[in-house]
Amino acid sequence: MLRTLFITGLFMAASMTTAQGNSFDQPASSPFGKTKSGEAVELYTLTNGKITAKIATLGATLVQLHVPDKDGKLADVILGWDDAAGYQSDDNQYFGCTTGRVCNRIAKGKFKLDGKEYTLATNNDVNHLHGGLDKALSKVVWKARPYANDKGQGVEFTYTSPDGDEGYPGNLTVSVTYFIPTDNNALRINYTATTDKATPVNLTNHAYFNLAGAGSGTILDHNLRINADSFTAVDDTLIPTGEIKSVEGTPLDFRKPVRIGERIDQVDKTSTQGYDHNYVLNAPEEGKPMRLAAVLTDPASKRQMRVMTTEPAVQLYTGNFLKGQKGKDGKTYAHRSACCLETQHYPDSVNHPKFPTTILKPSDKFTSQTVFQFSIAGAAKE
Ligand code: GLA
Repeated sequence: MLRTLFITGLFMAASMTTAQGNSFDQPASSPFGKTKSGEAVELYTLTNGKITAKIATLGATLVQLHVPDKDGKLADVILGWDDAAGYQSDDNQYFGCTTGRVCNRIAKGKFKLDGKEYTLATNNDVNHLHGGLDKALSKVVWKARPYANDKGQGVEFTYTSPDGDEGYPGNLTVSVTYFIPTDNNALRINYTATTDKATPVNLTNHAYFNLAGAGSGTILDHNLRINADSFTAVDDTLIPTGEIKSVEGTPLDFRKPVRIGERIDQVDKTSTQGYDHNYVLNAPEEGKPMRLAAVLTDPASKRQMRVMTTEPAVQLYTGNFLKGQKGKDGKTYAHRSACCLETQHYPDSVNHPKFPTTILKPSDKFTSQTVFQFSIAGAAKE
């Protein structure tokens, strides 16, 4: 009897009805393996019946994203692995993870804040990259809180990074919420963070996209539009010089849709070894918090993705260091077989007072939102 009541209670909690009478289900979860130190990792599934995302508690990482093509055929459009072990292997180049505390680079891993010098790990030649080593946000297990309401399904991941982790000041509490609305083929990611000491924060998602399906070839035939007139010029170690340069007349000009492969040779033999550039996004439309960052289209499947964000910049990275590692379903991830569109603040902002600030103060709350919106090219406005 008690057991029946318990099971009925569980069932009711899992499938409820809103005040408006719509029924909705809590996102399901399943085991995704363990970390090297034995911590259990869970995988959460969000869906609206048309697109489906799977997100792991390890690194609050987007593991799968299934999206329909022009014929309604689904493909998983991001690179990743089938279990937590893959994400902890040397082959993992930040696939799908929540990247931070500070994504992108900090020159020589050093910065000064309130008169004190801080030293971080240098894990990218002489520079600090993507939050550092094993305590970076991409490497730790987050707490998950799945939820559902009449608008869709979501899961909120939270993690408190202790004062001094990876050399950063302050106890930083971060929340990353993934959400799929019922009525829209979009994946929304909302970030918040609070701290008890001033500290730099720059959060992004590092999903590698291939709209023809992960592991199906290069992205050189994808068309890309980036809503940016300028980019942050960098030195040989990809640290901004401080100069904001126009894209006009350069292979970085994606203001009109261009095949990614069209001019990639012109940036191949440079320090970026392909596209690995931070674009300064054009201002949002009057009164709108979100701006268009980019539109990525696969002409064959006609899958199209619009990236919208509250962030001032986007890093375009064309998988220049992918090396043929084997991922989900044994598929191979060749050089340039995916690209990342990482919404963020400019790299090394903490050492560039003229850039929009990345310093979070104890009295403030960091908030940021990015939306990956899917449609069929030609069916709606580009
Ligand atoms: C970012 C960087 C690249 C590279 C990748 C991960 O996009 O800008 O240089 O580090 O992450 O491999």
